[in-house]
Amino acid sequence: MSNIFCRCCFGKATYPKAGVDRANNRASNMDVSAELLDIENMRAFTYKDLRVATGDFRPENKIGQGGFGSVYKGTLQDGLLVAIKVLSADSRQGLKEFLTEITIISDIQHENLVKLHGYCVEGNHRILVYGYLKNGSLDHTLLGSGHCSINFTWEIRRKICIGVAKGLAYLHEEVQPHIIHRDIKASNILLDEDFTPKISDFGLAKLFPAHLTHISTRIAGTQGYLAPEYAIRGQLTRKADIYSFGVLVLEIVAGRPNQNRLLPVGEQYLLERVWLEYKEGELERMVDASVIEDVDVYEACRYLKIGLLCTQSLPKSRPSMSAVIKMLNDEIDLNEKDLSDPGLLSELAKYKTVKNNTSGTSSSGLGTHEDSRSYGNTETSYANASFTTVNGR
Ligand SMILES: Nc1ncnc2c1ncn2[C@@H]1O[C@H](COP(=O)(O)OP(=O)(O)OP(=O)(O)O)[C@@H](O)[C@H]1O
Ligand SMILES: [Mg+2]
Repeated sequence: MSNIFCRCCFGKATYPKAGVDRANNRASNMDVSAELLDIENMRAFTYKDLRVATGDFRPENKIGQGGFGSVYKGTLQDGLLVAIKVLSADSRQGLKEFLTEITIISDIQHENLVKLHGYCVEGNHRILVYGYLKNGSLDHTLLGSGHCSINFTWEIRRKICIGVAKGLAYLHEEVQPHIIHRDIKASNILLDEDFTPKISDFGLAKLFPAHLTHISTRIAGTQGYLAPEYAIRGQLTRKADIYSFGVLVLEIVAGRPNQNRLLPVGEQYLLERVWLEYKEGELERMVDASVIEDVDVYEACRYLKIGLLCTQSLPKSRPSMSAVIKMLNDEIDLNEKDLSDPGLLSELAKYKTVKNNTSGTSSSGLGTHEDSRSYGNTETSYANASFTTVNGR
């Protein structure tokens, strides 16, 4: 992992005027190929391999569309089923993320992280090849508006929460340097055939060396899952992922997305709603009615409280991921006295005031994306322990 930091920079080259575009393209491919040269465990596919695998990228094989490109189902020559993510051509942002994804994920393996088999860099094409996960992403299935053939029993939901927590704990606490994912959300949780969850999309991930208290970075992530201190000040710690995980747990137990503008005002934001019901002692109202038959309501409410604990407005009040795993498994108690107001979107104005009173931090405005796609900016700086007191890691 040690040399990942320097891999994501791009050299510049000068070319004669004629064919500048083509030359630039070639140059950037050379840069990309150079960046990828020393990556082991990663197969370089030809574009032809992937055309054959997807039946020439036939529309029927398209299984998804993200902010950076389309995803196709394919079968490799050896019979392996794969998901092939084709980045939109000429997306500079996408290119940076493409490299980040490959460099970060090539060195790590865990049951709860998606497997990247390889990539393709050829002409304009930048493509990632992942293991295909039969049961798709949580946003399409559990939280989707259309018909879903999967019966998300309580057993399955519990398994998903614990699996995602294990994947995150691995990134946060076992891998060196630690990794902050920055885009934990329902569409990035994929399910294999036995509903083992796999965290995907490492394009926004950041390495987080142990001696730092936080990284100051422009905001990247997805609205609704962003921790307030990160959304306002751009200060990133592992606690930002833990906040997103908390939102995800609420979504899984409630069976609805964190934002639903079709609902009456006051019910649109799931976290706000769960907090209100908690204060009224009516948390069980938030458990998805479709699991009511097989659910242990006491356990489901405990999961909701863990979601609330992970989304506390003060980062230092959020537990570490290893503590979360123990709470989910009922190995340690969740002290309800520790529960106070979660960091709500509607409270961002309050944080802005705090920000104005805080010196020595670089800040950035709240992203304005209206949809739920990931967004980001790649400028990042690294802060040392004396830089600020804001973060509870
Ligand atoms: N390995 C995979 N196996 C099965 N389906 C996948 C796989 N990877 C992605 N998909 C499907 O493709 C969809 C699009 O994925 P993608 O990561 O490109 O975008 P997204 O996560 O929905 O949005 P964003 O652009 O914010 O990341 C996913 O929601 C999922 O349904
Ligand atoms: Mg995704």
